[in-house]
Amino acid sequence: MCGIVGYIGEQQVPEILLKGLEKLEYRGYDSAGIAVAQETAADVYKEKGRIATLREAVDQTAAGTAGVGHTRWATHGAPSKTNAHPHQSTSGRFTLVHNGVIENFEELKAEYLPETALVSETDTEIIVQLMEHLAGELGDIPAAFRKTLSLLKGSYAIALLDSEDQDTIYVGKNKSPLLVGLAQDGNVVASDSMAMLHVTKEFVELMDQEAVIVTRDALTITNLEGEAVQRDSFIAELDESDTEKGTYAHFMLKEIDEQPFVIRNIIQKYQDENDDIKLDQEVRNALNEADRLYIIAAGTSYHAGLVGKELMEKVAGKPVEVHIASEFMYNMPLLSDNPLFIFISQSGETADCRGVLVNVKEQGYKSLTITNVPGSTLSREADFTLHTYAGPEIAVASTKAYTAQMAVLSILAMDGARATGSSEEFNAIHELSIAANAMETLCDQKNIMEQIARDYLFDAQSCFFIGRAFDYHVVLEGALKLKEISYIQAEGFAGGELKHGTIALIEDGTPVVALSTQEHVDANIRGNVQEVAARGANTCVISTEDTQKEGDEVVLPKVHNNLTPLASVVPMQLISYYAALHRGCDVDKPRNLAKSVTVE
Ligand code: F6R
Repeated sequence: MCGIVGYIGEQQVPEILLKGLEKLEYRGYDSAGIAVAQETAADVYKEKGRIATLREAVDQTAAGTAGVGHTRWATHGAPSKTNAHPHQSTSGRFTLVHNGVIENFEELKAEYLPETALVSETDTEIIVQLMEHLAGELGDIPAAFRKTLSLLKGSYAIALLDSEDQDTIYVGKNKSPLLVGLAQDGNVVASDSMAMLHVTKEFVELMDQEAVIVTRDALTITNLEGEAVQRDSFIAELDESDTEKGTYAHFMLKEIDEQPFVIRNIIQKYQDENDDIKLDQEVRNALNEADRLYIIAAGTSYHAGLVGKELMEKVAGKPVEVHIASEFMYNMPLLSDNPLFIFISQSGETADCRGVLVNVKEQGYKSLTITNVPGSTLSREADFTLHTYAGPEIAVASTKAYTAQMAVLSILAMDGARATGSSEEFNAIHELSIAANAMETLCDQKNIMEQIARDYLFDAQSCFFIGRAFDYHVVLEGALKLKEISYIQAEGFAGGELKHGTIALIEDGTPVVALSTQEHVDANIRGNVQEVAARGANTCVISTEDTQKEGDEVVLPKVHNNLTPLASVVPMQLISYYAALHRGCDVDKPRNLAKSVTVE
């Protein structure tokens, strides 16, 4: 949520910052701004809305070789030009961008700045005003910056300009991600390496509670006491083309299409030369030694966790609980004697998950993060990490990360089965390659999915997705995909549950998508389809070659029963995509959302 960039070097900064912000727009798109360092006060350009609007507002003559930029997902203060970052101190000397939430901004205002009139409604402005106050008090800018950081409670990634020293950007972080990049002709700051691949691939990770001074040719990291810290750089394993749409109209469609390749990639990464599962022995031990697994996740990743639970329990005979991250601390179950906590998170930054991780670590429990971003906060802070190798997922609606998560979970289930001696025969690696082929076939049926979207959803106000057993988890994801990008009210229901109240909402023409991939419940779900059809619903059935009946709208190619979610979600993703497209929605950046949810 919110993305920040900065550059200091030999090149002109406005275009570098704007390009960086375009790459970070997935983190929030309520407003955006850049500041270009100048004497007396930095030039600030900011606008409500997207980066494209900001780009138009930036003066063509804007020039300078140091600056910072921000794209915002509003927390404190409505999306507006005034609340947009960068924020400037009253004298104009300091200019700042911030990602995160300052929990004690009211206390700081009362204690240090009772007389200062704030211009915006944000929690951020207090930081820049405090910096100005402490700079006056201490006279030493690095010390004032460290003191400012030490007074902040909450989460932050900060980049700060001082107009009296245009050769420095001050940088700090706590709980929010931030990297510094090293280039030939200067240095950069970014929430995510993707944002600055047009300048460099070499980055240095920053840790919480560090104060960092970035100049044109150097980087100095200290702790908040001012003691120097050494850290090696790393090379980002990404190409700029990984973060571009290519010939696709939307990232979401590109990412749906990439899914078969992602699954094949996962097979390669998790298979050794003897075609056995390749897994770090420490991770294997942690999984095998645990008497119960607790999966913690949010949104789509939570839905992957539900599928993971079934796989783990059925294939490996290992008990698993799945919990919504934001609820876990309030509704904490009685834990088993030797639990392992598994955090599933595409971004690895979800604050709700991190809250749980911090808590369970304090209690001494072991943790594993399954993520698409190995250097992310959840990955760094958990004991172990497994990578989902899906490549950057840029569309806000998650698609390939979800199927990648389920694929990794299926591999863990198979590995676990060997340890527990479970009788379930399941060669995940072999079956995943068949599932990847099936996904490819489904991706080639876009015309069918587009027609379904037109026929069922063009004018729809609401839509129900029903399924039983394994399919129930997948229909939850189908409904989430549709609602988040098309704004059609969509609910996923267990087929048998609908008639316990919700069937009252079915009226003439209400679309109901039924998923039937499980032979043992096929008759029941078909019964549910009849029930809603009898009440006027416009029903659409997705089945498999084994459950197919005449008139089914989509028939999935054969895949192992344990992996049907990998295939069955593809039509739902595509139907949602086309529904949103035909309704004129912004598919990749749906309203009110951000990709990386770094506030609780
Ligand atoms: C929906 C979606 C969200 C995320 C959720 C968790 O398409 O993307 O529901 O799944 O915000 O995010 P991660 O997986 O990054 O923890």
